[in-house]
Amino acid sequence: MSETEVPEGARLGISELDEEHGLQFRLLRALRDAFARSDRSQALELIDRLDDTSNMHFLLEETLMIRRAYPGHQAHRQEHDHLIEKLRALRSAVVSGSEAEPLTEADAVGRWLLSHIQTFDRALAAYLLAHRSR
Ligand SMILES: [Fe+2]
Repeated sequence: MSETEVPEGARLGISELDEEHGLQFRLLRALRDAFARSDRSQALELIDRLDDTSNMHFLLEETLMIRRAYPGHQAHRQEHDHLIEKLRALRSAVVSGSEAEPLTEADAVGRWLLSHIQTFDRALAAYLLAHRSR
């Protein structure tokens, strides 16, 4: 359903991952819209959904990395932790009303996600596709 919501150039050819990335981008776009409307309660709900969705998605990737003995596992995992920290910092700022530029922050998270997919996830996908037998 949401695979097509992944920007062109960020599809990995593994539908499980592409679909979950699509959902992350969809939630990010909705978050951007909520910020644009200054709808703080909707923004908080979307940040929480993005946090849950991203945690589950990262767990899937990390499980695949462990099962297939992926050599870049540690560095990739640190990147995931970094995104979750960014989301939680944004959440705290929204809760306390101290977010300076929420749209800029949401865009920064979107750029981070796109860049992560195009580098870390693309390398992982290439490895998984080359070690598909198990
Ligand atoms: Fe990843």
